[in-house]
Amino acid sequence: MKPRCIQPGNGTRMQYCLAMLALIWYVFKTTIPSNGFGNRFASMIIAGNWKMNLTRQEAVALTTAVIPAASDNLGIILFPPSILIDTVRDHLASGNGNGGEGIALGGQDSHAAVSGPHTGDIAAPMLREAGCTWVLLGHSERRADHGETSAMVAAKAVQAIAHDLAPMICVGESLNDRQSGRAGDVVEHQLRDSLTGVEPGACFAIAYEPIWAIGTGKTAGAGDIAQMHGHIRSVLTSINADHASVPILYGGSVKPGNAGDIFDQQHVDGALVGGASLDADQFLSIIRSARSRA
Ligand code: 13P
Repeated sequence: MKPRCIQPGNGTRMQYCLAMLALIWYVFKTTIPSNGFGNRFASMIIAGNWKMNLTRQEAVALTTAVIPAASDNLGIILFPPSILIDTVRDHLASGNGNGGEGIALGGQDSHAAVSGPHTGDIAAPMLREAGCTWVLLGHSERRADHGETSAMVAAKAVQAIAHDLAPMICVGESLNDRQSGRAGDVVEHQLRDSLTGVEPGACFAIAYEPIWAIGTGKTAGAGDIAQMHGHIRSVLTSINADHASVPILYGGSVKPGNAGDIFDQQHVDGALVGGASLDADQFLSIIRSARSRA
């Protein structure tokens, strides 16, 4: 059968319109970055950063426990160590029952280059190929352990977005910054420098994680969280109006006992959970808290 040549004057006007609509849909589908939630942001996002923890067996057990928590009105992201991504992906695919929507997978870092001589690093297209739709960038542990600057984070973010990964860019002040009243300025600089080159309309999120609250059991006060998240929202808006609705997650000793208070604060769109995400009961309890507010 001969392909039908669809051109104005060489078919009906209706055929031409349908072809144009199909073309627009195809371009839209293939160019809009995905985030694992059907290209929309869930009203609340709960992310588990497993850091350098869990055996394969433990990862499977934890994933099994989290799968039933998947739901349409809440985004869940798991950030396993890269060597466990395949296992978690296969496990999610076999048991999600939600068609893969609802629980997304992310890497804990990706390099600014696509490939090359960078021993121990992982490239954005590798994560994408492994089934990730997210990547954590600029976590304070990477900034401290690997000397990552905000300029490096920006280069990684641009590359991640180019490979259809949504970066979750982490910012946060040290205790010294907070005590000397510089927290707002420090976070603003981190934001501006980490977003250099990130185009308006790109799919990304911000995680505000005060360094002094990570793994310490100390959480920022509700008022401080609200103030900093409001500040982050206005900085994002001033960088580009298109960034105004980017999700802003809080991280730093989020536990079942404090999650509700944190989620009640304005401009808090979820949590990036470390220690408590390794314990199914605690993580599920935090998810329930978020869902009741979604
Ligand atoms: P904790 O929840 O263990 O404080 O870790 C927070 C964090 O660093 C998440 O990225």
